[in-house]
Amino acid sequence: MNNSICAGVAFAFLFLIISKFRTSLFSKWTSKPCTEVNCNDLKPYPAQPIKGRERYRVMMDVRRLDVANWLTVDNNYMAEHVVRGQLLEKEKSKVLQCLPESYDACMEALEEVVDFLCQRFSTVFERKKSGDEWTIHNKMTGETFVFGGQNKEVDPLEVAVRLTMEDLSILMKNEDDEYYLAASASLFPVGWTVQERIGWTISRLHNPVPLWHQQVANSVSKFLARLTPESPMERSNYFVEVKRPDEELFDILYRPTSLSEDNPDPSPQDIVIRRERQTFRRLPRTGAIVFGVKTFLTTLEELPMQELQNLAKEIKSWPEYVGEYKGREVWGPKALEFCEKKTRMMEKQEV
Ligand code: HEM
Repeated sequence: MNNSICAGVAFAFLFLIISKFRTSLFSKWTSKPCTEVNCNDLKPYPAQPIKGRERYRVMMDVRRLDVANWLTVDNNYMAEHVVRGQLLEKEKSKVLQCLPESYDACMEALEEVVDFLCQRFSTVFERKKSGDEWTIHNKMTGETFVFGGQNKEVDPLEVAVRLTMEDLSILMKNEDDEYYLAASASLFPVGWTVQERIGWTISRLHNPVPLWHQQVANSVSKFLARLTPESPMERSNYFVEVKRPDEELFDILYRPTSLSEDNPDPSPQDIVIRRERQTFRRLPRTGAIVFGVKTFLTTLEELPMQELQNLAKEIKSWPEYVGEYKGREVWGPKALEFCEKKTRMMEKQEV
C-alpha cells in the first residue's frame, strides 16, 4: 500500500470512530427521535451548571426552550414512575389539584404531551384514535390510557404526569390579569404542596422567597404576559437539602416539608443538590401556560470540582436572611469544609 492509500484508510477509520463516539455521546439529546424502547442507557438531560455568582440576586435567567427536548425520558424513568404512581395512589390530593375552570387547558396540555411523546419517543409511546377517543399506550410500563370524547372521568393532567417524568402545572389569568396556579400535578415539590397553594397567584406563591418582590416580580409578570406559543422558554433552579443516611435519593423526590429534616450533622453523601429544569409554554388554543418541572437529584460528593467550587462561592455570597431561607446553617459549614478539603487534595495531586 502506498502512503496516500495508508493515510486514506487511517483517515476513514478515524472518521468512523469519531462519528460512532459522537453518536453515542451526543445523539441522545439532539432533536432526532429516540429509537429505543428501553431507556436504560439514556442519561438525564444535562443540568445547567451552577455558575458561581459573586453577588446574590434573584434572577429570571430564562432562555429559549430546547423545543426538541421539552419533555425528557431517561434511565430513571421506571424508578421514578413507581414513585409517581404511589404518590398518585396514596397522596393524591396533596400532589394533584385542578380547579374546574382549568379543564380545557389541562386537556390541551395532555394532547400536547401525547403529541410530543409519540413523536420524540415513538418506540415507547403509541396512540390510536377511535371516534372522538384517544388511546395512548406506554410500552415501557405496559400502561394504556383512554381520554377525549365523552370520557370526562379521567383527569387529563393526571394522565399527562403518569406519562412524563416532568411535573406539570397550568397557569391562568385571573380578573386582575395576574397569573395563578389553576391546576398542578407537582409530585416532586420541595417545601410545599399543591393542596395548600392551588389557586395562589405567582406573586403569593413566591412570598417566602427573599427579595422576590424587590428584584424580580415585575419582570416575571411581564415575561409570562409576553410568552407566545412560538416563544417557549426554560430556566433552571437549584436547592440544597439534606437527607438521612438511610434514605435513597428516590425516597426524597417528594419533599413537601422542610429541606433539612432529621439530620443536623449531615455528611457530604447526605447533602443533596436538587436541580429543577423549568419550562414555560403558552398553549395555542386555550391561551393558558404549561409550566413543566423536571427534578434531578445529585449528592454533593457527585458534583464536579468546578461546580463544587462555584457552589461554595454562591453559598458564601448569600446575605444572612437568604442563607436562613435556604437552610444554610444546617448544611453550609459541612459543604464548605468538604469543598476546601477536596480543593486541597487536588492541589496536592497537581504538585
Ligand atoms: C420565571 C418564572 C419564575 C422564577 C424566576 C422563579 C423563581 C423562584 C426562586 C428564585 C425561588 C426560590 C428558590 C430558592 O430557594 O433558591 C422560587 C421558589 C418557588 N417557586 Fe418559583 N419561579 C418562577 C416560576 C414559578 C412558577 C410558574 C411556579 C408555580 C408553581 C413557581 C413556584 C415556586 C414555589 C412554590 C417556590 C417555593 C417557595 C417557598 O419557599 O415556599 N415558580 N421560585
